[in-house]
Amino acid sequence: MDFRRIARRKLPAPVFHYLDGGADDEWTLGRNTSAFDDYELLPAQLSDVSTVDLSSTLFGERIDWPVMISPTGASKLFHAAGEMGVIRAIEKFGMVYSLSTIGTTTIEDVSVACSGPKMYQLYVFKDRGLTKDLIDRCKEAGFQALCLTVDGPVAGNRERDHVYGFGTGKFRFRSVPSLLRHPGWLYRVLVKNDLELVNLATSVRPDQFREMSLLEYLNSQLDRSLVWKDVEWLAEQWDGPLVIKGVQTVADCRNAVHAGASAVMLSNHGGRQLESAPAPVDCIADVADALHDKLEIICDGGIRRGTHVVKALAMGANACSIGRGYLYPLAAGGQAGVERGLGLLRDEVERTMTLLGCDAVGKLGPSFVQRRK
Ligand code: LAC
Repeated sequence: MDFRRIARRKLPAPVFHYLDGGADDEWTLGRNTSAFDDYELLPAQLSDVSTVDLSSTLFGERIDWPVMISPTGASKLFHAAGEMGVIRAIEKFGMVYSLSTIGTTTIEDVSVACSGPKMYQLYVFKDRGLTKDLIDRCKEAGFQALCLTVDGPVAGNRERDHVYGFGTGKFRFRSVPSLLRHPGWLYRVLVKNDLELVNLATSVRPDQFREMSLLEYLNSQLDRSLVWKDVEWLAEQWDGPLVIKGVQTVADCRNAVHAGASAVMLSNHGGRQLESAPAPVDCIADVADALHDKLEIICDGGIRRGTHVVKALAMGANACSIGRGYLYPLAAGGQAGVERGLGLLRDEVERTMTLLGCDAVGKLGPSFVQRRK
């Protein structure tokens, strides 16, 4: 929350609220984190915890600890270091990096800079040629996993964005004072054109796309006719780990398995899409019961503390992923901010495991967690 406070100071108000805000009344946004309070950790005292092994595997790759970077759009909105700052920061953390379709660094540049496992997040656009082209580039660039986001047939109703006119194509005078207080940000965006959605740039004519109407553009390009059958098409194009991001029910996780996916991200898009969707942590147990041998389960949303990670894993998740959890640190301090934020989170996970009496994340299970009575 300290990173959030600094981010608020460093970013123009419309950008901070785009990052910080969620859909409608932001109930789901808040619930994503507060739902963790409904669970308690049950220690097994006097277990030998002289060493604690946080390592695991995800997408067939070894990871040093079970937290990954969630795909989030346009990192350069939040800091000049952008995606590269995050990639450099995670170098020593041994974790999966995800690049968003609407990232501000190219697939190829990420591939060169990022030595660890990489996942590319895809929206399926109306233009299937563009989708196919992105998949081919990911293969060429050596990405390990492909992720399809399925919770965005239309952008959620983010009222803070309407208030500040962010991404809505509507000018709001109330944003001006804050923008003028951040000339460095304005210079980067207006003069250096730092926010170009470089991976789409080759396929989209400039007149089709204006920098400040990100959501409007996405809205017009997303293929709302998409069904599970299309995921089979995607699985055929991509012969590697396929991750479905944005599901909450056992039924949809079964659909994911049948369509050829190997992992799901239990996620409501950080409370930014369907308001009243359940918190990811509350979805884990049922999905793990039904499908733990068929799918890797990633808990995406609301993670702010090491205890959150440990609870999610004890309930059956293979890993957790963080979005705002690294974007606030990025906005607050660029690469150094992300390093500091991840370091704190990793230390918390390790300390929680030690206090819990569990010396390896692979040994976490339901005996370590209970629903609050
Ligand atoms: C968002 C989209 C871009 O949540 O993923 O803003």
